[in-house]
Amino acid sequence: MPTGTLTPPAVITTERRAYTVEDAIGTGGFADLYRVSFRDSQGVPCFAVLKVLQSKHASDSHLRDLFFNEIESIRRTQGTYVVRYLDRGTLPRERGGLPFFVMEHMAGGTLYDLVSQEGLLDELRAVHFGRSIAAALKNAHRMHTVYDPDLQDTDGGSTQDLAVIIHRDVTPTNILLDQTREHAKLSDFGSAIQARDGSAALNDRIRTPEFASPEQRDGSSKITTASDIYQLGGVIYWALTRVEPVQLLTKPLGEREWSHSRALKDLLSSMLALNPGERPSAEAVESKLEEIALFAKGSNVPVAIPPLLGPSFSMPRFRLALAVWFIVIAIATYPIVSVLSPLAIQAIESLTELVQNRVPSVSKPQN
Ligand SMILES: Nc1ncnc2c1ncn2[C@@H]1O[C@H](COP(=O)(O)OP(=O)(O)OP(=O)(O)O)[C@@H](O)[C@H]1O
Ligand SMILES: [Mg+2]
Repeated sequence: MPTGTLTPPAVITTERRAYTVEDAIGTGGFADLYRVSFRDSQGVPCFAVLKVLQSKHASDSHLRDLFFNEIESIRRTQGTYVVRYLDRGTLPRERGGLPFFVMEHMAGGTLYDLVSQEGLLDELRAVHFGRSIAAALKNAHRMHTVYDPDLQDTDGGSTQDLAVIIHRDVTPTNILLDQTREHAKLSDFGSAIQARDGSAALNDRIRTPEFASPEQRDGSSKITTASDIYQLGGVIYWALTRVEPVQLLTKPLGEREWSHSRALKDLLSSMLALNPGERPSAEAVESKLEEIALFAKGSNVPVAIPPLLGPSFSMPRFRLALAVWFIVIAIATYPIVSVLSPLAIQAIESLTELVQNRVPSVSKPQN
C-alpha cells in the first residue's frame, strides 16, 4: 500500500480539473497509485487512477526521468487497447512537489486477479485478450517521435528522431480489465524504453523475472520489440495453464501436454522462440489470433463472451416461446370450444331452416 503521500479526501488539482483522492489501490516499483474521483465536462462523477512518484524518490533524477518516460510512453501508444491517459501534473510543494499522471480506472482488476479468482481461461477468452494486447503492442512498436528528457527543458523534447517503444514488462499484473471483465488493456509503461535503431541495451533490472524473455535474462544482449512478443506469448500460455514462461526454459512448450487448438500451439511456439529473429511481429500476432478466434467461435470452445452470441440465440428462443403460448392457449380454451361448438352448429342449422321455410312463402305466386 502507498506510504501515505496522499490521504483521502485530499484534492489534487491540475490545469484541467480537480481530483478527490478516494483510496489507495497499490504501490509499485517507484510509484504509488490512488483511485480518485472527478466530474467530467457534463458534471457526471467519474473515477480515475492517479499514479504518483513515491516521495522517497523525489530527489532521484534518474527515477524522475523514468517516470516522465512512463508518462510519454503511455501517451504515445494511446489506442483502443492501451489504458487511457487523462491528465498530468505536479503535487504542490507542501505535498512534496512530486510528478503524477492520471489514467482511466479499470474496475475489473488485472489479468492475474482474473485467473487467480476464476481459474484458467478457455481458449477463446485467452485469444481474445491476447489479440487486444497484440494490438496495443502494434501501436507501441511503430515509429514514434523520440521523447528525450534531456531536451525537454530547452525545446520540450521536440526532435525529428524516431524510435519504437518496447514495453519490456508485459505480464498478467500489467494487463487490466474493464468492469465487465470482457475487455483487456495494456498498462504500466514504467519499464518502457525508446529504441532509436529498433533495439536497446538492457541497462536496468528486470521487473518480473518469471515473464522475462531469454534476451532480457541474458543481461549482456540488446533487446528488440521481439522481447514483448515473447512476453505476450508467455502471458497467453500462463492464462491457459498457469505455467510461467520461465518454466518453459527447462521444458519447452513442444514437450508439454496441450489441450487447445493446433493453430494456437503453433503461434505460441513461434512467439516463444528462443531466437528473437524467429518471432512474429505484433501485427502478425494480432491477425493470427483474430483468425484463431473466428475458428474458436464456430467450434465447441466454451462461450466466453456472452454478448457475442446474444443475438443469434434470441430468435430461436422467441419462436419457441411463441409456439409454447399457442399450445397453452389451445389447451386452455379446448373445453369451452368443445361445449360451444355443437351449440353453435345447432344454432346455424336452425337459422338456415328458418330462412328456407320463409323464402318459398314469400316467392310463391298468388293465383
Ligand atoms: N488504471 C488502473 N485501474 C485500476 N487499477 C490499476 C490501474 N493502474 C494500476 N492499477 C493497479 O495497480 C497495480 C500497480 O500498477 P502499475 O503496474 O501501473 O505500477 P507498477 O509501479 O509497475 O507496479 P508493479 O511493480 O506492481 O507492476 C496494478 O497491478 C493494478 O492492480
Ligand atoms: Mg506493474
